[in-house]
Amino acid sequence: MNNEGYLLQVKNLSKSFPGVRALNGVSADFSAGSVHALIGENGAGKSTLMKCLFGIYEPDSGEIILEGKKVHFNNSREALDSGISMIHQELLPIPFRSTMENLWLGRFPKRRFGPIRLIDHKKMYDDTVALFKDLEMDILPKTWVRELSVSKVQSLEIAKAVSQKSKVIIMDEPTSSLTEHEVTQLFGIIRRLRSEGVLIIYISHKIEEILAIADMVSIMRDGAHVGTYRSKDLTTDKIIQYMVGRDLTNRFPPATNIPGAVVLEVTHLTSASSHSFNDVSFNVRKGEIFGIGGLVGAQRTELVESLFGLRPVAGGQIFINGREVTIKSPTHAKNHKIALVTEERRVTGIIPMRSVKDNMILANLKKYAGSFGLLDEQQGERDVLENIKALKVKTPSSRTLIRDLSGGNQQKVLFARWLLTEPEILILDEPTRGIDVGAKFEIYNIIIDLAKQGKCVIMISSEMPELLGVSNRIMVMCGGKVTGILEGKETTQEEIMRLAAKFM
Ligand SMILES: Nc1ncnc2c1ncn2[C@@H]1O[C@H](COP(=O)(O)OP(=O)(O)OP(=O)(O)O)[C@@H](O)[C@H]1O
Ligand SMILES: [Mg+2]
Repeated sequence: MNNEGYLLQVKNLSKSFPGVRALNGVSADFSAGSVHALIGENGAGKSTLMKCLFGIYEPDSGEIILEGKKVHFNNSREALDSGISMIHQELLPIPFRSTMENLWLGRFPKRRFGPIRLIDHKKMYDDTVALFKDLEMDILPKTWVRELSVSKVQSLEIAKAVSQKSKVIIMDEPTSSLTEHEVTQLFGIIRRLRSEGVLIIYISHKIEEILAIADMVSIMRDGAHVGTYRSKDLTTDKIIQYMVGRDLTNRFPPATNIPGAVVLEVTHLTSASSHSFNDVSFNVRKGEIFGIGGLVGAQRTELVESLFGLRPVAGGQIFINGREVTIKSPTHAKNHKIALVTEERRVTGIIPMRSVKDNMILANLKKYAGSFGLLDEQQGERDVLENIKALKVKTPSSRTLIRDLSGGNQQKVLFARWLLTEPEILILDEPTRGIDVGAKFEIYNIIIDLAKQGKCVIMISSEMPELLGVSNRIMVMCGGKVTGILEGKETTQEEIMRLAAKFM
């Protein structure tokens, strides 16, 4: 069979789920020794295509051709054995095992002990140390995975893929939780793999990142392959245009909210844990969008988790409408009408085996309690459908299991969950992570609308344009300290960066 020099080809691949045509006759060619990016709106079919290549889904029709030969995988083991590995968008490590056990799971090194074969722990340990050292990853072989930060878990998955010595490595949003430094490191690893002839298929919503690392870019829309382009022939605007099917000249809606009186006041707040935030003071006004900027590790998440009662504080005060409050648990926080949309949907967010609807009304069951403690199903359904529509959640119905939604659409459901609690103070931790450019615009619109209704919105974001695009004021943190509070309209990306790296 002539494979025209391509390492991997898909021909006319289709895949449907109940109510969704996820892939609609996709054909694409991938070369060895290249970084091939895949980009498209939430629910466009990127992860589904990759799961077909990795033997997780069986395509309904079409062919996968690896090195000129038609292949068929019944499961991921077979894909791995053929030289394809994948880093998932939703990380799936086993929490109560060590990092090295997660790394070599299913292929533990063995040694003979008379007639029996035992796991060779020493070799496993040495191999792990060598691998981490080679990849310059700062992870200990015996740490429990449960104790690793999300970014370390992501690094672990990357190490695992590299250790398989695959010809094809699929990375589904590998940088979503990595620090800047780790992203640079990952790019180093990717370039090295490429020079060794590996094909890296790279999925991301970060266009700048794609333009920096990819050789080729394939764009998907509504389950179809729109086109493949050389990265150097593309620009951010062109990519957006191909993705959305139209120009998106403004990435931010006009911020027409006008801040009023102070609602939330935080003074000298200090974390109970010694390496976290320290002496943090700020206030947020009615109708204000208050951005929090900084680099990963600035303790922004820790700060808002304390405001939400998830982490203890050692000192300082919190006032709401002039009255001092103590917030020791999320229940206290909810009673004070504070809501928190978390950064990590996988860990603290969704309940995979429950429906979109259940996941959406979860934080607000009281509102739907009808007579005899039964849920007011109709009211619930109405609100849920309204939010599905407003946020353009791509789902066949409100009864679909949330785990069957694409990553970005799961994030939108989480966002809706907290909108339904009708909070006065809405805290958003990286609200648009994993969300495509078009849907981001909808989320900004909703945030601005909430502010116009007089809510306080606190938004942590690592994306400078987003911080500058929607915030009235921006507080910048570095190493757990506030390094500045800036007027959104008057500041610049450079100034924020400078403050974000002040103690480094
Ligand atoms: N196991 C499944 N069961 C039912 N529907 C599914 C399943 N997996 C994916 N889908 C649906 O197929 C469509 C494509 O999803 P996919 O996860 O491939 O999107 P994506 O391009 O990766 O999006 P994102 O950028 O949000 O991750 C979506 O409408 C999704 O809801
Ligand atoms: Mg996906």
